[in-house]
Amino acid sequence: MARKVILDVDTGTDDAVAVMLAALHPAIDLVGCTTVNGNIPVQYCTDNTLRVLDHIGRGDIPVYEGLSRPLARLDFPVPRRERDSSGKYHPDALPVPAAVSSKQGVGAVEFLIETFRAATEEIVLVPVGPLTNIAAALALDPGFAKRVPEIVVMGGAHALGNVTPSAEFNIWADPEAAAMVFAAGFEKLTLVPLDATHRALVTKTQCEELEALGTPAGQAAAAFIGHRIVVHDTHQRQDVPHSTPVHDALAVGSVIDPSLIGTRRLHVAVETQGALTVGRTVIDTHFRGGQAPNADVAFDADAARFFELLLRTFAGKA
Ligand code: BDR
Ligand code: CA
Repeated sequence: MARKVILDVDTGTDDAVAVMLAALHPAIDLVGCTTVNGNIPVQYCTDNTLRVLDHIGRGDIPVYEGLSRPLARLDFPVPRRERDSSGKYHPDALPVPAAVSSKQGVGAVEFLIETFRAATEEIVLVPVGPLTNIAAALALDPGFAKRVPEIVVMGGAHALGNVTPSAEFNIWADPEAAAMVFAAGFEKLTLVPLDATHRALVTKTQCEELEALGTPAGQAAAAFIGHRIVVHDTHQRQDVPHSTPVHDALAVGSVIDPSLIGTRRLHVAVETQGALTVGRTVIDTHFRGGQAPNADVAFDADAARFFELLLRTFAGKA
């Protein structure tokens, strides 16, 4: 039976691939997408999410707009993270036709609280942007963590950062929210950090295979991933030539097939103070802190099987 999922996104090229994977794979019943300020201001994340769902014929999936700024950092700039190869900011709208469907009248945080309150079946919560909406739900509903049976977070890093030497973007963009999430006592929290997503690189040649599928999802995925490859080649060259991580899609992939990632059960906390380390996920790999583990942390991923999953799903053959 398909697993019910709510995907919290800041769409974004890799979020867009994650949305398509969740919306099209038969093992997932995508209950809704919630959007959050992150890669770009939230209204553009919402618009991009609607565009992508319409483009693949899944405009029936409701989209709820979430919070427009970090929980506590009033002085943080509204992030605009997606850049083109010359370092200029990528246009806000993804290169698929304008949306015909509209966002829901209810906001993301209210939707999350009410949906988990009313749930009679398990719903997996998959946040792949800054954790602002999730922290707000925790603050407003003291029972929220207990009502969420499983949460899979894309964010954080142990051996490498991407926005600072210490930190990964989703956690850095709202560190107080992330700190709340890791301290909340979720029953089953899986963290998919950069350490795993950088093991599941998608190459330019594979992008051509996606393009050759000729399906709306295959062609859109090729455009989004192709753009990421150009940007990574210029600004953050990967070990595999002409390749890119597709972070958020790996998190969704791990819900479909948990064996795509290799995890260790560890304690994770988030640094909110350090001048050089703000937004760092402090992952106690050697049990030095004496705190009980609170997360299954992915350090590895099966790149070949991850790409196969994308290819089959976007071919309509999953
Ligand atoms: C994360 O940051 C965002 O830019 C991506 O969408 C992904 O969720 C990777 O650090
Ligand atoms: Ca994201």
